[in-house]
Amino acid sequence: MEIFIAPSILAGDFARMGEDVKRMQDNGADMIHYDVMDGVFVPNITFGPQMLKAIRPYTTLPLDVHLMITEPIRYIKQFAQSGADYITVHYEACKDLKATLDAIKSEGVKVGLSISPDTPASVVKPYVNDCDMILVMSVYPGFGGQKFIEGSIDKIKEISAYVKESGKNVRIEVDGGINASTAVLVKKAGADTLVAGSAVFNAENPQDMINTLKNA
Ligand code: DX5
Ligand code: ZN
Repeated sequence: MEIFIAPSILAGDFARMGEDVKRMQDNGADMIHYDVMDGVFVPNITFGPQMLKAIRPYTTLPLDVHLMITEPIRYIKQFAQSGADYITVHYEACKDLKATLDAIKSEGVKVGLSISPDTPASVVKPYVNDCDMILVMSVYPGFGGQKFIEGSIDKIKEISAYVKESGKNVRIEVDGGINASTAVLVKKAGADTLVAGSAVFNAENPQDMINTLKNA
């Protein structure tokens, strides 16, 4: 699978989101990662479907919506209609996970399933065939700029084995603490989709950083 780099606009300038999205596309990003937080599932609040709709015209890249919200099934339709290409929900946040994944699929949006650092990789196994992407959180969801949790490597390897076994084309995404050195480790473990917030946005040259994450 081709390696995708998805800059997280959580690390962007909240007063200039449209421009930042466009700038990331111009710098070689493959997707735009959009972190939605509700102050309940995680101790932080970010942005919702209205802003997604507002940035949609600024890029032709896929919009990768990461819902860190409780019972995300309530908002699938709104995010789909606001321009999401991928919608990822958390295993820990859904009462009826199968129904939630089905709701994403029925909107014609790519289906993502995420697990937080304390959730074992094995929980995703029964859902691999329902997914287009599985997201391993390598920090506790809520904030950018945290340190990569090493234990994520084994979880990526385990999920990579499930995906191979399924024979399905499922992306393996990793999110949190990705930089030039952790990028090498996660790709070796089987990740093909790398989210990067602070590494890309704080880089002197975002284009060089995106290239490094992709090719290192
Ligand atoms: C954290 C978010 C991440 C965050 C990553 O809850 O899901 O997408 O933006 O930021 P960095 O790359 O700085 O760890
Ligand atoms: Zn994220």
